This record gives sequence, structure tokens and C-alpha cells, in this order.
Amino acid sequence: MTTQTNTTLKPETIDAIKLLTRRFPKPDGALLTALRIAEREVGFVNPHVCEQVAVAIGMPPAKVWGTVSFYTTFRKETDGKHVVYICATLPCALRGSENVFDYVSDKLGVKKGQTTPDGLFTLHKAECLGSCNTAPCMQVNDDYYENLTFEKIDQIFDDLRNGKSPARHVTT
Ligand code: FES
Repeated sequence: MTTQTNTTLKPETIDAIKLLTRRFPKPDGALLTALRIAEREVGFVNPHVCEQVAVAIGMPPAKVWGTVSFYTTFRKETDGKHVVYICATLPCALRGSENVFDYVSDKLGVKKGQTTPDGLFTLHKAECLGSCNTAPCMQVNDDYYENLTFEKIDQIFDDLRNGKSPARHVTT
């Protein structure tokens, strides 16, 4: 039996998006925040969610979906429980992010954009995560893991597999 997530936004969510939109001279200004609000409620963004956001803020659904497709950080319906973003921008690259990506890719047995067969992890490369001084850097869902080493990566993924919250490994 498969379970299907209800992707119909609550009336109060639609109202919150409409209220937000009124604060901007053009609806485009509210779009990213409106999508985040919808994503938080449903757990991901799909065409049905985009359609409702589009109606609420008064934009064409195709433009809303185009925005979601452009930004890799919106959670998709097919994503795993933990969405892993490994920074590939220059400061992280200079500190070995390509090796980090390859290590994680081998460890999970998936390539960029793929999800592990158990549905636990989806792997992405990301542009700058805004923490260049702690490169190389990785984001898993809403958490950052910084100054990564292979040992830290092993611990992080062991913890995630065991349902624990890994230590954040922030060192300045
Ligand atoms: S370059 Fe990786 S966090 Fe900025």
C-alpha cells in the first residue's frame, strides 16, 4: 500500500501567502518566501503546490514552477528523507569539496541528483552555502556541517542512518 501526501494547502496558508504578497509592489517579490511557506506545510514542492501558490499570489503557474526548478534547494517530491547539498563553489573547491563529494557519493552509492534505494538520502551539489570560512561545507536538510573531513562525514552519515542528530562540527 502506498501513502500519498495531501498537497492541498490549508486555507490559512493561502491567506498568509496572500497577505505576504500585498507587502510587495510586484508578486515576484513574495514568490520565494511563499514557496518556502508552502514547502514547510507539505514537505516538498510539486506542480500542484506551485499551482496553488501561483493562484494565491497572481502569477502564471509555469513561472512559479520555473523558479522551483531553477533553485535546487527546494525539496522535491522524489527527494529522500535527508537532502544533502555539498558546496562546489571556489572557496570550498580549494579546500577539497570535490573529494568530499566523491567520498559521499561512493559512501551512499548514488550520483548527483540521485536518491538512495532506501529513500534516506538525496545527493546534490550546491553553489556557495554562505559559510566559505568553514569550507568544505555541506548542508543536510536545514543543518550545516563544516570543516569536513572523511572521519566527520562517516560520523555524520552513521548518525543520520541511526536516527540521531549529528554534531554540527563548527570550528572557527
Ligand atoms: S564556497 Fe562553499 S560555502 Fe561558500
